[in-house]
Amino acid sequence: MRRYSSIVVLTGAGISAESGIQTFRGGGGLWEGHDIEEVATFDGYVRNPRKVLSFYNDRRRDLRRAGIEPNAAHLALAEFERNHPGEFLLVTQNVDDLHERAGSRELRHMHGELDKVRCQRCHQVYSSREDIEPSTQCPWCMAAGRVRPHIVWFGEMPFHMDEIHLRLARCDLFVSIGTSGNVYPAAGFVELAHQRGITTVELNLEPSEGAALFSEGHYGPATTIVPEFFARLRQT
Ligand code: APR
Repeated sequence: MRRYSSIVVLTGAGISAESGIQTFRGGGGLWEGHDIEEVATFDGYVRNPRKVLSFYNDRRRDLRRAGIEPNAAHLALAEFERNHPGEFLLVTQNVDDLHERAGSRELRHMHGELDKVRCQRCHQVYSSREDIEPSTQCPWCMAAGRVRPHIVWFGEMPFHMDEIHLRLARCDLFVSIGTSGNVYPAAGFVELAHQRGITTVELNLEPSEGAALFSEGHYGPATTIVPEFFARLRQT
């Protein structure tokens, strides 16, 4: 394995599965029990704010359940970042805080964060672990009923895209972990890297939709394959 200087890692729900957080697709996925249009779109929020706020209140409470902790895959990424002499950026589609709790620093949540909310009047983003109701008042501008989850819904533009594209263009290794490759723009990152001749690696339970585009793939539970892969990378 060669030495890489600039590394971009993308993670998806699969890296948090062994910590007890539901993935979205596949057996028992979150979208099996919920209609995306109703709970994960702005139109759904406008139609029924209470239903959407309740859906995210439940997921925020789930994240706080006893036993929900970073797993060996989260910890392996944070340790690698601490010891890597070159550039390292972790882009996650996940809205949980397990990467932060594992110690990751150069981290961008492209789909937002469960523990943050946003006022639609003054646009202030702030941390909140409390339930959000349709009547919740913004503590900054005092507007009531304008506070929404700081989550990117389907049809909305993910965060940090300019920076992500810049870093993808100049990295020499792109690693995708625990994502099914179903949702763009994240699912397109491997294509951007591939077009630039960048080495691309997939670490997943099973081959994703974009598996054929990766230079190599390692398959199995993230808590096994992620520590193994990054331990080998550190030895280069
Ligand atoms: N270890 C490694 N990979 C796993 C594990 C595990 N223990 N368990 C599941 N996986 C893999 C699955 O094989 C699947 O390919 O993780 C992937 C999870 O796929 P999805 O549930 O589609 O999650 P993700 O790819 O993150 O979804 C992307 O879709 O709904 C939106 O905004 C949501 O960020 C999410 C986006």
